[in-house]
Amino acid sequence: MSNKMWGGRFSERPDEIMEEINVSIDVDRHLFAQDIAASKAHAAMLAAQGIITASDAKNIGKGLDTILSEIGKGSFEFKRALEDIHMNVESRLSELIGPAAGRLHTARSRNDQVATDFRLYVRDIIDETDAALAAFQRALVERALEHAATVMPGFTHLQTAQPVTFGHHLLAYVEMAGRDRGRFQDARKRLNESPLGAAALAGTSFPIDRHATAKALGFDRPMANSLDAVSDRDFVLETLSAASICAVHMSRFAEEIVIWTSPLVGMIRLSDKFTTGSSIMPQKRNPDAAELVRAKTGRVIGALNGLLIVMKGLPLAYQKDMQEDKQGAMEGFAALSLAIRAMTGMVRDLVPDEAKMKLAAGEGYATATDLADWLVRTLKIPFREAHHVTGRIVAKAAEGGVALHELPLKQMQAIEPKITKDVLGVLSVESSVKSRTSFGGTAPKNVAAQAKAWLKRLEKERKLG
Ligand code: ARG
Repeated sequence: MSNKMWGGRFSERPDEIMEEINVSIDVDRHLFAQDIAASKAHAAMLAAQGIITASDAKNIGKGLDTILSEIGKGSFEFKRALEDIHMNVESRLSELIGPAAGRLHTARSRNDQVATDFRLYVRDIIDETDAALAAFQRALVERALEHAATVMPGFTHLQTAQPVTFGHHLLAYVEMAGRDRGRFQDARKRLNESPLGAAALAGTSFPIDRHATAKALGFDRPMANSLDAVSDRDFVLETLSAASICAVHMSRFAEEIVIWTSPLVGMIRLSDKFTTGSSIMPQKRNPDAAELVRAKTGRVIGALNGLLIVMKGLPLAYQKDMQEDKQGAMEGFAALSLAIRAMTGMVRDLVPDEAKMKLAAGEGYATATDLADWLVRTLKIPFREAHHVTGRIVAKAAEGGVALHELPLKQMQAIEPKITKDVLGVLSVESSVKSRTSFGGTAPKNVAAQAKAWLKRLEKERKLG
């Protein structure tokens, strides 16, 4: 038998391999809720416009609700022979309500249907990701407040640069996550237009009301061009781009956790909840979750690249290639969701070794810039020259194998006679961070204020919900 949904002009069954390559139900079954919601909106609109009768629309609506609950309960049988979610739902509808089911597909096509379903799906993903990122931010902010004054080494080139506070470091990721959320919101605004009613590609001769279906589905408006409506997937690409950037942020943080937990560094400790053991080396505590977050980034970026490549040579309008838009995207979004949740868990779990952090913060002459700044401020020496003088003092300390604050004043004065003992006041890591009061700087006072401002903002947002 040929396909009962489109087989009118076919006399033979498709080849087995044809079915195998054509089928998409294993992936697009995840769109069932969106598919049913869009069908309900479409049926109600058809009735309101007098295109189908009110009683047919009512039966269609009831039948669709039954299908939704069947899928929810797990009693719905997805059939591969019916290709995709659209035809699986319609076929079951006709079993439930008879020939009236066939009226549902008036003035629409699977092309506008799938574009609508996937927009709704991606919109839901954006909302879920936003909530996950807000929870991630909250976890970071709480820890930042707790560690507003905990000193750690700040690095450039992974070399000790200047002391910073652990809270300041954590708040850097809060800012990044804030921009990630902004990118997802931007994508949401642009994707929130309805393709439904574009039909196959040219629109329809039926007097449909696309504004009504758009509104019913929570879209801002119908898409203005029927060809564009069925043939672009830029909304997926844009969301995957935001997801990729976000995944890169997660990955960089994960890498820091891997570095920080290495016994060579030992700045933080993760509990048993977020580490695993080795089957051969009994002493090991591996930061597997962080490593996997780092690796999941590959899936997200891979999904973006994969879809860019699928789309790049496609003429308008719908091409079956576009059926390949879903699997990678769904997997990519799932990978990001897991990564964000794992990072949130690790942020809550991690315990910094404050003594070790402080010690490391003072290593490598990390307060040399403070010394140079003191020469500028107190002795009015131009910065370039102060930099040079400080370099000579650092070399002297290195020669003696001592830290800057341990170098006898006399030896400093041999290099710059005007230096007084007051200089010692700026050489500790605590005084270094305390002095960084410029806007956005690492001073504990700044960090606490920033963390509190973020807490307020996140709380307000949660209330607006
Ligand atoms: N399963 C298809 C997809 O995901 C639905 C659209 C099919 N349209 C068509 N003309 N064959 O893209």
